[in-house]
Amino acid sequence: MGLTIGIDVGGTKIAAGVVDENGMIGARTHRDTPADSVDGTATAICDAAAELIAGHEVEAVGIGAAGFVSSDRSTVLFAPNLAWRNEPLGARVSETLKIPVVVENDANAAAWGEFAFGAAKHVEHMLCITVGTGIGGAVVSDGEMLRGAHGVAAELGHMRVVPGGHRCGCGSRGCLEQYASGRALVREGRAQAESGSIAAAQMLSVCGITDPAELTGPMITEAAMAGDPCAVELLEDLGRWLGEGLASLATMFDPTLIVIGGGVSAAKDLLMKSAEVAFEKVLPAKSNRPHPTFTLAELGNDAGLIGAADLARRPAPIPERTR
Ligand code: BGC
Ligand code: NA
Ligand code: ZN
Repeated sequence: MGLTIGIDVGGTKIAAGVVDENGMIGARTHRDTPADSVDGTATAICDAAAELIAGHEVEAVGIGAAGFVSSDRSTVLFAPNLAWRNEPLGARVSETLKIPVVVENDANAAAWGEFAFGAAKHVEHMLCITVGTGIGGAVVSDGEMLRGAHGVAAELGHMRVVPGGHRCGCGSRGCLEQYASGRALVREGRAQAESGSIAAAQMLSVCGITDPAELTGPMITEAAMAGDPCAVELLEDLGRWLGEGLASLATMFDPTLIVIGGGVSAAKDLLMKSAEVAFEKVLPAKSNRPHPTFTLAELGNDAGLIGAADLARRPAPIPERTR
């Protein structure tokens, strides 16, 4: 198969590109993500893809979506942080564009990009965690993406780490996502500032704001990289949650490599080193087993687009065996 289109549907931007079989992006385009409009989002996806299809010989479209995607890679069953509920996104886009469309979980798509062309291209067993607004996860085992019985395996962000803890968009409480995501970072930063902490007031001034409500994740990351102690601590806390969560996950999946991606991974070593330290501390049987290596994602913002495009050229997984 020649060229495919990869589309990454983010909270604010829909990024699309024509990708070849070596993961190289040719033409690109983008649209704004319409706020809270499921129909508008489908239309914007179709628009972006149609623009690229008009100028290129394209065989399929892959879409990375931030939610639980059905095993036939077509319907977004549920999205904790977006409006999709049982949304037949694949069918809608493919009917409009008259081209095969596969929908993939956004983190699966990004992980596949890293596995095929990026940080994990030399390993067969990887675990990838994307730290952004939410926490996404993917497991590649023996070179195959783990999809589970219904397509929704490796929703690592919804592993419960605190019984009765913070409420999560998935309807549960105490999910890792509520402690180690970009949103959790902002919640903690604002809470500190509102509690009148002097260190937090200093952080706000480094960020150039006075109102805690204006604080954003990227601001905290930037302040931390500039050495602000409060911001550094917030990111290290996040890293600790992440590392401890990953230690539990490593007991299940035994990866060679753990890849950390997503927007918050822009904090690089600040995040990864504290995750690694926490991981090493709590990994069960730590002195008597091989440990995985940690690394940062390599493809940056393009990982999801490239991975979705590549997955679009691979056949659907074998259907469930009927008993
Ligand atoms: C969703 C995942 C998604 C992740 C990152 C989580 O809340 O459940 O499906 O991959 O956020 O966008
Ligand atoms: Na996933
Ligand atoms: Zn959850």
